[in-house]
Amino acid sequence: MTSPRDNTLSDRDAMRVTQFGHPPTPVREPMPKRNDRNALIRVTHASIGVTDTGAAQGDYLLQPVRGFVPGYDFVGVIEQLPSVTQSQLRVGQRIAGVLPRMGAHASVISVAPSLLVPVPDSLDSATAATVPLDAVTAWFALDALALTRGTVLVQGAGGAVGSWAAQLATEQGLTVYGTASSRSRAYAGQFTTSLVDYHDPNWITQIIEATNGGVDGAIDHTGSSSIRRAVRQTGGVVRTAFGGAPGHQRSATASGFLTSALLRYARPRERICSVPIIVATRRAEYRDALTKLFAAVSRGELVPPRPRIVSPTDYAQAFAANIANPGEKMVLER
Ligand SMILES: NC(=O)c1ccc[n+]([C@@H]2O[C@H](COP(=O)([O-])OP(=O)(O)OC[C@H]3O[C@@H](n4cnc5c(N)ncnc54)[C@H](OP(=O)(O)O)[C@@H]3O)[C@@H](O)[C@H]2O)c1
Repeated sequence: MTSPRDNTLSDRDAMRVTQFGHPPTPVREPMPKRNDRNALIRVTHASIGVTDTGAAQGDYLLQPVRGFVPGYDFVGVIEQLPSVTQSQLRVGQRIAGVLPRMGAHASVISVAPSLLVPVPDSLDSATAATVPLDAVTAWFALDALALTRGTVLVQGAGGAVGSWAAQLATEQGLTVYGTASSRSRAYAGQFTTSLVDYHDPNWITQIIEATNGGVDGAIDHTGSSSIRRAVRQTGGVVRTAFGGAPGHQRSATASGFLTSALLRYARPRERICSVPIIVATRRAEYRDALTKLFAAVSRGELVPPRPRIVSPTDYAQAFAANIANPGEKMVLER
């Protein structure tokens, strides 16, 4: 593969999934077509997460077609802006963002300026790249839960989204109960008041007993229906994903979406939090959330995961292995 540093603005490198079940392969290709609406961004860092690897298996509901480029979020530098733009952005500025339909694992991307948020000077780009998708998901999941006080259960509190959710909930004054296996217990324990192991068949009973009847809200990415037992009738469950066995995650997500929608006014109520949809439909709120998240990370109020740097050369192997340790996030660095 050609070094990304060889790029001119006449072409770009993109990691494309040409065959489901295989890691994306690097392709040298023409630049995205210039248009009057989009900015051109030279991507320096882009996170690699489970949604990328699931999509590359062909097992993701918001599935881009074969040949797609993974990567929901990015940090980069503005190379060009549309001739008419109302934003305060400038060429050369360091920015970050989340894409509504993936595509960040490329050296240059064409992006609506309304998706871009400046990265604070005090934040290095690799660390900043761990923030957008995962922390924005946690932010809007808590927003959908709409709890001002009480207790919240965060499933996978040592995971990429869960660790942000646990920290943000604590910041909001909620008492955080988390689930974690022994693998991520130590990391999750930093952000939670109490932890149970989701492998324990009695973990839901333990939560009900510890909270005298159940938590006020839960953030879940497994789609488990039994988790509803751990939540008070007056509370809510927010689903960020629906689990499913490998090869069946698309269908699990489709039926999970339907079930959650039907339980919207049940007791406990259910909500779905999908950042691709939020980014597409609530753009100003998304920018505001990401701006505040960056500021909180810069001030040391939120602890980001350690970026585990992946070079373009190591990308395919890292993507296939997909083993970030708890507290780490893989970041493609160009
Ligand atoms: N809605 C959105 O917009 C959005 C955005 C980003 C991601 N997602 C989705 O959210 C899910 C999580 O993503 P992530 O990046 O946080 O993944 P991750 O970093 O791999 O974390 C997943 C966590 O789930 C835990 N876990 C595994 N099996 C579990 C079970 N049966 N019950 C409870 N917890 C379990 C793991 O705990 P251990 O390590 O202890 O095993 C791990 O901490 C994925 O499905 C992803 O596609 C959705």
